[in-house]
Amino acid sequence: MKLAMIGAGYVGLTTGACLAQLGHDVVIFDISRDRISQLRTGQMPIFEPGLDDLVREVGAAGRLSFTDDASRAVKGAAAVFLAVGTPSRDSGEIDLAQIDGAAATIAPHLDAKSLVVIKSTVSVGTARRVREIIAQRRGRSDIMVASNPEFLREGSAIADFMKPDRIVLGFDQPQAGRVLDQIYAALAPVAPICRTSIADAELTKHVANAFLAVKIGFANEVADLCEAVDGDVGAVMEAVGLDRRIGRAFLSAGPGYGGSCFPKDTRAFVHSGRSRNAPQRVVEAIVAANGRRPLQLAQRIIAGADLEPGSTVGLLGIAFKANTDDIRESPALQIARHLLAAGLRLRLHDPRAARNARQVLTGSAEWVESPRDVFKGADAVVLATEWEDYRGIDLRAASRTMSGRHFFDFRNLLDPEAARGAGLVYHSIGRATLVPRDIERTRRSGGAVLPHAAAASKV
Ligand code: UGA
Repeated sequence: MKLAMIGAGYVGLTTGACLAQLGHDVVIFDISRDRISQLRTGQMPIFEPGLDDLVREVGAAGRLSFTDDASRAVKGAAAVFLAVGTPSRDSGEIDLAQIDGAAATIAPHLDAKSLVVIKSTVSVGTARRVREIIAQRRGRSDIMVASNPEFLREGSAIADFMKPDRIVLGFDQPQAGRVLDQIYAALAPVAPICRTSIADAELTKHVANAFLAVKIGFANEVADLCEAVDGDVGAVMEAVGLDRRIGRAFLSAGPGYGGSCFPKDTRAFVHSGRSRNAPQRVVEAIVAANGRRPLQLAQRIIAGADLEPGSTVGLLGIAFKANTDDIRESPALQIARHLLAAGLRLRLHDPRAARNARQVLTGSAEWVESPRDVFKGADAVVLATEWEDYRGIDLRAASRTMSGRHFFDFRNLLDPEAARGAGLVYHSIGRATLVPRDIERTRRSGGAVLPHAAAASKV
């Protein structure tokens, strides 16, 4: 089938390439000429594991092409997917300007009776709005509109597309359902297909992300309690998650959720609820708690390591999670900003996101090439993104290059005993702080503790 994708951003590019992999002929349109010419020469505007190879493969097979000509993209397409940006306004409401613009752009070029599929994350009611814009521009109502939300995680988007937990198809005309079924026929044997009303499909996306955010937010609050009572949030969640009604996924406590989806989608969901007099109080509480978390963690670093303005903090990771170069609403980035605002100096490393973060993080921030260099002269080191590379750091050697001894593992990535064995005061999330034996001994004998270990000895 010929398919068009409007928008060569994260969702459009990944979905377009994956649809081509399923055997469709996909043309991706983007308003940005630069982006299209980059893509034509094989340069990816984002980092997503495996995406460059996939784009090359389906491109070489003649099933994926790029254009900045809307009419060429849309003409003859059985379905046109809208995958443009849907940023949020200060009120939390989604800004639909790009959706409106895309609908208006494609309207004159659509074949009669073709299908427009909304892939971007939108609030309930957007499909109806798109249908109206297109009908107004064409002067007739001969286009079908459907909702087909995406559930791709950055970092594992291709696998999520090819082996989804479910495919949600929201439509209100049988012909639209038939086209969607054909598009996803190759995945039908591996994934349940939920055929719903358009409103239910739109809601499903927001409800799914809101619920996952609630799980994370809940785990983070439980972690706070664990810290206060000498519990271990990992052990608790392992046991709780074995209940199949609950499940272990998305119960890993950490610095808070970030990225381009959960923060925006939870705010939009809260806004939808409020504006329809159906407040989503659980999600409201989670949004507020997640918003407070980076500052709380920054304060924990400063108090826990007894830092003063001018002290140096090493920061491992700035991306909102591992395997992405995305720093949007990254808790690591927010922690970094709070530390800089408190007058601290930063030494930072991220294997993929440094380039993006350099552009937005101003102040005393020095970027280093290797994780080991983050430790040099640092009064405290913070691990904020769970990059696998960080597991392999030789802590014993790295800690010797520090000025202080405090290590904050906000992803609970490292082995606590190994960190303590390396002479570090090991602070983590939802677990007791581990103090090295020499500091323990000094404390027990009532002697003076080492510099920067003073705060740790109070824990
Ligand atoms: C999320 C959803 O997982 C996808 O299903 C959805 O399609 C996507 O949003 C979207 O709406 O487009 P993504 O933003 O790529 O995907 O990232 P996640 O892997 O879900 O992680 C989101 C945040 O939650 C990250 O900051 C991560 O570190 C955090 N997280 C996740 C935790 O703190 N704990 C966990 O247990 C899981």
